[in-house]
Amino acid sequence: MTDISNQSPLPSIRACVFDAYGTLFDFGSAARACRDELGADADKLTALWREKQISYTWLRAVQNLHADFWQVTGDALDFALESLAIDKPGLRDRLMNLYLTLEPFPEAADVLKRLKAAGMRMAILSNGSPDMLAPLVRAAKFESFFDAVLSVEEAGVFKPHASVYQLAVDRLDVPAAAISFQSSNAWDAWAASAFGMKVVWCNRYGQRPERLPGKPDREVKSLAEFPTLVGVN
Ligand code: LAC
Repeated sequence: MTDISNQSPLPSIRACVFDAYGTLFDFGSAARACRDELGADADKLTALWREKQISYTWLRAVQNLHADFWQVTGDALDFALESLAIDKPGLRDRLMNLYLTLEPFPEAADVLKRLKAAGMRMAILSNGSPDMLAPLVRAAKFESFFDAVLSVEEAGVFKPHASVYQLAVDRLDVPAAAISFQSSNAWDAWAASAFGMKVVWCNRYGQRPERLPGKPDREVKSLAEFPTLVGVN
């Protein structure tokens, strides 16, 4: 078994592929921006919203009843607001609109800039629909960093379906074993590894290791530690 705390560089990486929500972009920033209305419920809302959003993607994938991530995100928000008995006019729309301009994590811009300057091919691979990812990448001024912004909409099914990870292989024309995939979602990290990618688990939320097929090759606490793992200083 590989030791994921090993910090030696991964050999032969030709492309870096990033998950979006929770990895490059802070999904907690939407509720935080509405603390004036949410008060102490902001963190509870973020946790429940996210948990339900991801559960719905898995369920829809298994049911073969796909709807895009905008709908799933809205459905999950409705569930979370009702669960917390939050009913304020305009708040749902405010939160959904904030999802289009989520704050990037503080280290993300510098890390992407360094990887790009080193000549790395780069992509986003996300559950997000193209209409969600485009404004997000634009607002963060990340457009010039990426060779591709890949949405599961091209596969018509959510992560962790193998056809989603295959999108990155096909679009970047790089074999899975030469791709380093970064995700903060443990289940996404394990699945990309099971698919055959090299994986760096950005465990910023202090999650426990999954008991699922695959295993990340490296674990970091933030993306700031990532460039050296692909030989970039
Ligand atoms: C994504 C979710 C899983 O961006 O974070 O695909």
